[in-house]
Amino acid sequence: MKVLVTGATGYIGSAVAGRLAERGHEVVALVRPKQVEARGVPGAAQVRYGDVTDPASLAAGDVDAVVHATAPTGDEAVELAAVDALLAGGAKVVYTSGVWVLGPGDADETSPVNPIPFVTFRAAVERRVLDGGGVVLRPGIVYGGGRGIPALLTAKAAEHGRGRYVAADGREPTWPTIHIDDLAELFVAVVERGESGSIYHGVAEEAVPLSAVAKAAARAAGLGDAPVEAWPVEEAAGDLGPGFAGALAVGQAVRADRTRKELGWAPSRPGIVADLEAGAR
Ligand SMILES: NC(=O)c1ccc[n+]([C@@H]2O[C@H](COP(=O)([O-])OP(=O)(O)OC[C@H]3O[C@@H](n4cnc5c(N)ncnc54)[C@H](OP(=O)(O)O)[C@@H]3O)[C@@H](O)[C@H]2O)c1
Repeated sequence: MKVLVTGATGYIGSAVAGRLAERGHEVVALVRPKQVEARGVPGAAQVRYGDVTDPASLAAGDVDAVVHATAPTGDEAVELAAVDALLAGGAKVVYTSGVWVLGPGDADETSPVNPIPFVTFRAAVERRVLDGGGVVLRPGIVYGGGRGIPALLTAKAAEHGRGRYVAADGREPTWPTIHIDDLAELFVAVVERGESGSIYHGVAEEAVPLSAVAKAAARAAGLGDAPVEAWPVEEAAGDLGPGFAGALAVGQAVRADRTRKELGWAPSRPGIVADLEAGAR
């Protein structure tokens, strides 16, 4: 298949582009002009320039599928115009959402959305994609390759001299997580076999306690087995911004049973704690 990948220089987009190419698909990478010269897009047969804020630049009439994986602008109107432009080309659009659209608590692919404040725009964008015959893929917190939010915890542990996790009212959150390579394989499966109008969850471990993640991050930062501590969300907000800090404090348990069954997807990479600790060696 010929597949356009937006956000192709990013953490998720670059992994997906590489995996699609390995599977023999023709990857067209959509990138912003300045960045690509600096970073390149491995696996891309073609590079095209575009920007989410300029819907005309997203025209995708000549491809079979689109993986849309750009960093969110946070502006619902901009995000809706972008997916409208991608859907208008008639390709199968796979929209990268995220588990935060589900809100706190337990959820699976059939649960109603209840977005946390950081991602309120996602509810309308998901709806537009599904109504337009596209597919929604919600990754959990992505780790692996020394990038992503967990790598940020390692950097923060090094900065603070101890492992910390953001917590609201002292409550320890749990995160649904996924290794970047398992996630890239899921994207390929969704591009190839995902049903129009379906929601899929990219989650391997449903609810990892954050004290365990912070402990592994501290070890990765060379701090050994020193005790970890809760970082009050109000304090973290000053460093990370209130929206992002609030998101990190959300406790979730997200299942992906339907996704595994429907697509025959079986994540197999080491869990988040083992992955972070491996970075320490
Ligand atoms: N990482 C996670 O744990 C996670 C979990 C769930 C959902 N998600 C979602 O997955 C998507 C991708 O996340 P990521 O972690 O891969 O982010 P990332 O590493 O920050 O990559 C974001 C990509 O979006 C591109 N981009 C940013 N603004 C753009 C614009 N206006 N027009 C076109 N491209 C633009 C960036 O291009 P430049 O190189 O030009 O900056 C980059 O390629 C996001 O929507 C994110 O919310 C991520």
